[in-house]
Amino acid sequence: MKRYNIAIYAGDGIGIEVTAEAVKALKAVSARSGFELALTEFDWGTRYWKKTGKSVPDDYLKQLRGFDAVYLGALGDPANVPDHEAVRPLIEMRQGFDQYANIRPAKLFPGVRTPLADRKPEEIDLVVVRENSEGEYITAGGFFKRETLDGIALQTAIHTRKGVERILRFAFEIARKRPRHRLTMVTKSNALKIGMLFWDEVLEVVRKDYPDVTAEKCHIDAMCMALIQKPQAYDVLVCSNMFGDIISDITGAISGSIGLAPSANINPTREFPSLFEPVHGSAPDIAGKGIANPLAAVRSAAMMLEFLGEAEAAARIEKAVYDCVVEGRIRTPDMGGSSTTHEVGNEVVRRLAS
Ligand code: NAI
Ligand code: MG
Repeated sequence: MKRYNIAIYAGDGIGIEVTAEAVKALKAVSARSGFELALTEFDWGTRYWKKTGKSVPDDYLKQLRGFDAVYLGALGDPANVPDHEAVRPLIEMRQGFDQYANIRPAKLFPGVRTPLADRKPEEIDLVVVRENSEGEYITAGGFFKRETLDGIALQTAIHTRKGVERILRFAFEIARKRPRHRLTMVTKSNALKIGMLFWDEVLEVVRKDYPDVTAEKCHIDAMCMALIQKPQAYDVLVCSNMFGDIISDITGAISGSIGLAPSANINPTREFPSLFEPVHGSAPDIAGKGIANPLAAVRSAAMMLEFLGEAEAAARIEKAVYDCVVEGRIRTPDMGGSSTTHEVGNEVVRRLAS
């Protein structure tokens, strides 16, 4: 029987609550799918901080290195741990494990309220593919005479040929497998005449290998407007690190609740473990109340199974979530219901078992 070693890093706040439900779904589906999951739980985050004064042990990347995947709940506990320290491991894992592709699907399920007027569910079905390893979020630059009236702040974006080409190819591969075969590259080459022009140039090279995919470009400002006005015109959106960050907040918002939004941080070469996590954070405002929506976490677990090669099990989880949402009887408050985190998690497990 196939066996996968998974590191479970629940983290803080609702990260712990929703991870418990994701683990339940994973156990329920693996029991009937002919593979085994060896789950190793780590208490890193505030719990570890209280014992040691650190959020993670010094060698935590080494400890995670040999796992097939890392499953993360959420990090952050501003009342107890400085936020940059609490969230640091997430950024270190993405960079240290070269998880250069951040995938954030956004789909409006029937019966879920979108802030956009008159949008039918089948009209919002997008995948954001965000460059996750370089671009605008590399800390390159510095200050000069910072405190004075002559102060200078210099922050440089770094786009490499290797980095741009690999994320474009990754996105084209996704577009190729989706029914519409459509890809939109977000750019801003009318103003960022070096970095984004480079993206445009690499697109022209890469697109030749994907004649079956309709590829177009859209400037980031126009893209923000278009996603509000006509989200149905888009399918796969591929973006630099910062543009992807911006766009995926919009796609998350228009597809309902952040409590439904899953994500994957992929190292496509599989040299290192990939990381799967809900898009949301640790939500201190509702932590401990038992009302967090666990479905983003459950769907992230499904993305993990799919990446591991268990597409059928992943699809079963996704269907259980879909049915649970569409039926609408058991929902957490963020989706207009009054059910608890456990009740929603139990409902997913019940559907997986039936
Ligand atoms: P957040 O995503 O934790 O919460 C934003 C809002 O959405 C809150 O009102 C929260 O109650 C609600 N929300 C989030 N997830 C929900 C769920 N599953 N069900 C129902 N409601 C949900 O973002 P915020 O408040 O900006 O950050 C809180 C902490 O999380 C901070 O320490 C921040 O640094 C950290 N953070 C961590 C992330 C991660 O681990 N990937 C991502 C974003 C923030
Ligand atoms: Mg963001």
